Amino acid sequence: MKFIATNVDDSYRVLGERISAQQERSGFALDSYFYRSHLTYQRELERIIYKSWLYAGHISQIPNPGDYFLFDLGEDSIIINRDASGEVHAMHNICRHRGARVCEDLRGNRTSFVCPYHGWVYNDDGSLKVARDMNLLEGFNDADFGLKPVNYKVFEGLIFINCDIEAPDWSSELEKLSKPIQGYDLANAKIAESTLYKVDANWKLCLENYLECYHCATSHRAYAKSHSLKALACQAQPLNDAMMARAEEATAVEGITDEIVEYYSLAKQFGGCVCHSRYALYDGYVTGSEDGKPVAPLMGGFKGYDGGASDFHLGPLTFMLNYPDHCVLYRFIPRSLTQTDMQLVWFVRGDAEEGVDYSKKRVSWLWDQTTQEDEFIITRNSEGVNSHFFEPGPFHPEFEELSMMFVDWYLKALGPVSDKD
Ligand code: FES
Ligand SMILES: [Fe+2]
Repeated sequence: MKFIATNVDDSYRVLGERISAQQERSGFALDSYFYRSHLTYQRELERIIYKSWLYAGHISQIPNPGDYFLFDLGEDSIIINRDASGEVHAMHNICRHRGARVCEDLRGNRTSFVCPYHGWVYNDDGSLKVARDMNLLEGFNDADFGLKPVNYKVFEGLIFINCDIEAPDWSSELEKLSKPIQGYDLANAKIAESTLYKVDANWKLCLENYLECYHCATSHRAYAKSHSLKALACQAQPLNDAMMARAEEATAVEGITDEIVEYYSLAKQFGGCVCHSRYALYDGYVTGSEDGKPVAPLMGGFKGYDGGASDFHLGPLTFMLNYPDHCVLYRFIPRSLTQTDMQLVWFVRGDAEEGVDYSKKRVSWLWDQTTQEDEFIITRNSEGVNSHFFEPGPFHPEFEELSMMFVDWYLKALGPVSDKD
């Protein structure tokens, strides 16, 4: 790992001043302070990450009673499991006695969670089952010491969590995506491949990179050859118009072209972005693969190819790029000030058989390649913005519009900073 200096002159007063200065330079990239300040990072966790809907996993990871997996974010660990009655739970992996992790293995099947430290035992619904000899403590009540619950929501088989237990229900927002997403039948889909890219860069650099396609033409040759998003809207318009005109009939998915634009400050609920747009692939490509040819059977309700791909935003840090024969989920999880987990998950039709209907390599080729290219440019970007002489430049008004919108939302979420902070 490359060492990144993160010492800055810091205090809440400095943070407040930096936010104001950045807001006055609207339309410009973030100052290096925001990538180097530990104080800012802690505030991001409290104000943004722990209050947003984040993809934790897919329902196929916990098909049976007792199945569980861990989802790590920041320094935290969350248990997602299915209890004996079949109900899903999300809870903090922190013992209510003195805080040890109660579960170490990343996935498995358990009817209870036993803390390795002093042996408190939790049921699979998180309630405290046994606290050894704690009856000696007057007034101790097991019911007060269950594992802390985490808010969760299952949509189309995708499990999202929100550490803010008071966060409003996200259902009505997600429902807006029902039509364009239903054709993929993600609830019954299968994970063909899943890869974790541990990137030595602040989470915002990873996200800002994902949100713009200005770099696509220069950094992603395979992607740019096949996906029209790399071009200006006016250049891609004839291709997009033709694809949109045939999409419903070719795919037999009603509402596949519906556009929903509720990201960042436009979202009706904090940390609950919901967006969908469809754009064309270049002639000769029906899907996101090395040669443009199908790599798996058609998803769920699809009856054919329209030469298009669907972009979804599901919360501020989770995205999907869905093709008629496979779907790619992309999520960004901060792990520290200078480390980010980029997780990619490739879905195929639930009854597709590996080695018969698809190969992991062909399904994942394009986005594995593209993500490795992204990792390269993001870490170069990180080195540059952490340089003493970095001075932020302007965003491109069209290509980088979304990165700009993210920055505006981000600054608003961080501030205002008061004397009491
Ligand atoms: S910390 Fe878990 S039983 Fe003591
Ligand atoms: Fe990229």
